[in-house]
Parts: sequence; structure tokens; C-alpha cells
Amino acid sequence: MVGRPEHGSTEWYDAFRVQSMAALRRARDAAYGEGEHIGQESFMRAGEILALARAADVTPGSLVLDLCCGTGGPALYLARKTGCRVVGVDLSAQGIRLAASTARAAGLTRRVHFLVADGLRLPLAAAFDVVLLLETFLAFEDKAALLHEVAGVLCPGGRFAFTLEEGRPLSREERARMPGGDGIWLVPEDEFLPLLRSSCFRVRQLEDCTAAHADMAGRLAMMYARHQRAIAASVGASLCDETIAADVRWAELLHTRRVRKLAIVTERAA
Ligand SMILES: C[S@@+](CC[C@H](N)C(=O)[O-])C[C@H]1O[C@@H](n2cnc3c(N)ncnc32)[C@H](O)[C@@H]1O
Repeated sequence: MVGRPEHGSTEWYDAFRVQSMAALRRARDAAYGEGEHIGQESFMRAGEILALARAADVTPGSLVLDLCCGTGGPALYLARKTGCRVVGVDLSAQGIRLAASTARAAGLTRRVHFLVADGLRLPLAAAFDVVLLLETFLAFEDKAALLHEVAGVLCPGGRFAFTLEEGRPLSREERARMPGGDGIWLVPEDEFLPLLRSSCFRVRQLEDCTAAHADMAGRLAMMYARHQRAIAASVGASLCDETIAADVRWAELLHTRRVRKLAIVTERAA
């Protein structure tokens, strides 16, 4: 590989996930707490993921798209908990391989499928009752294009449920201080809500989860630091240090409410 991958990029996830699985799992189990770590790569506890899905009316009959599904933890968890069918999509071939092998091991391959695709070019028909986008809106600079793509795969009346990183765009200085800062695209609420409306989405529920996510970012940084030696032994000291620094910085941004986290459930106009 030429140079190190940018923190938070698909290439970074590929390197970090595969090489440090066992060490990471121990740190994350400790950070999320009993029963709350289900393979998610985010600041959401399992209970929050389930609550968001339920608020979007995910039921045993639902067909759900988990956009930017990572290694498939939330998709498999929701299939198990609610009985729904899920398609998970991610740009990372490595993430999708891991997700598919976990689905096979869990005996869930009849209800959960994974495929490699770009969220802005989905090779899918308008068949989904619910689309979920967990902790990844920040990766999309063009939010209108993503909303257009999501609307295109939802049934009329279908729901789009997601978390949003809300706030003014990071300044050049803030980007420089944040590992992977150049790939973070915040949006102010007063710009985003009109965009939702003009994309034919009606807001059903909006909750501020900034405090819970600030706490989680801090806990992850603390547990990565506690397991630093084992994580660094698999991925190298600099990748490990960068990951801790990123979560410390997220904790600061969220604690000070420079960035807010919103959990939003919307409905596509019929
Ligand atoms: C923070 S992880 C979140 C994973 C998952 N949603 C979860 O909660 O565990 C972000 C994921 O988004 C994926 N991603 C980023 N941009 C993407 C795009 N344009 N299309 C599809 N996946 C993308 C990355 O590869 C990565 O797996």
C-alpha cells in the first residue's frame, strides 16, 4: 500500500477491522456495556438501534435496507430481534465479506443479504419498506444526492431512519485537528430540514442523542486506550493512536455541542 489510509475511509476500515478484530472486540464489549455491543461501528448502543428501527415500524414483514452497513452487526441484530428481512450495502468489499460470513455462522442467510455497492449508485429496485443509515451521513458531502437515491429505493410511504451529524461545516483548523477530518461533512439543522422536505420526506420523529453519543465516544476512547497494547500489536501504534485521538476529539465536539447528533425518522410521501 502507498502511504497510510485516511482515518475513517473505506480503506482505513479494511485495514483496521481485519487486523485487530479480537483486540477491538474486547475493547468495544467493555465500552458499550452488557448486551449493547452487537458488532456496530458507531456511537449507538444496541438499544438505540432497535428503538430507531421500531420507530420506523420495522416488523417481521418488513424489507429493510441497511445503507453503509459496515460489517453487518446492526443488520444481523435487527433481523434476529424483529424477524425482518435485511439487505446490507457497503462500499467496503472487506466489510461485506465479514458481514456475509457472520450471517452464515448465525444461520441468517435466508433473511439477510449483503452486497458491495456505492450508496449513491444503488443497484436496487423501489422495494424497501425502511432504509436505515446509521452513523454515516457525515461521509456524504452531497446530502441531496443521497436523499434522492434513498427515495428511489423506498416504497411509497416507506420510512428513512438515520442519525445525522448536525452543525456548521468544520473549519480548516478543525479539520486539521480531527483524524480523517477532510471526509467529515456536517450540515446545520436549518439547512437539512428544508432539504428533507423538498426531497419529499416528512419528519415523524427527531431526537437529540448528543449527550449519549458524547458519553459513548469518551468510553470508546478510554477502552481503546486500556487495550492499546493489544490493538497496536495488530494494527500498529500510529493507527491505534489515531483512533483514540479521533474518539477523544468526537467526545469534545459532542460534549461542547459544537456538533449535535440527531436520530431522525422520516416518511416518504406516497
Ligand atoms: C462508521 S461505519 C458505520 C457502519 C455501520 N452503519 C454501523 O453502524 O456499524 C461507515 C461505513 O460506511 C461505509 N461507506 C462510506 N461511504 C460509503 C458509500 N458512498 N457507499 C457505501 N458505503 C459507504 C464505509 O465503508 C463504512 O463501512
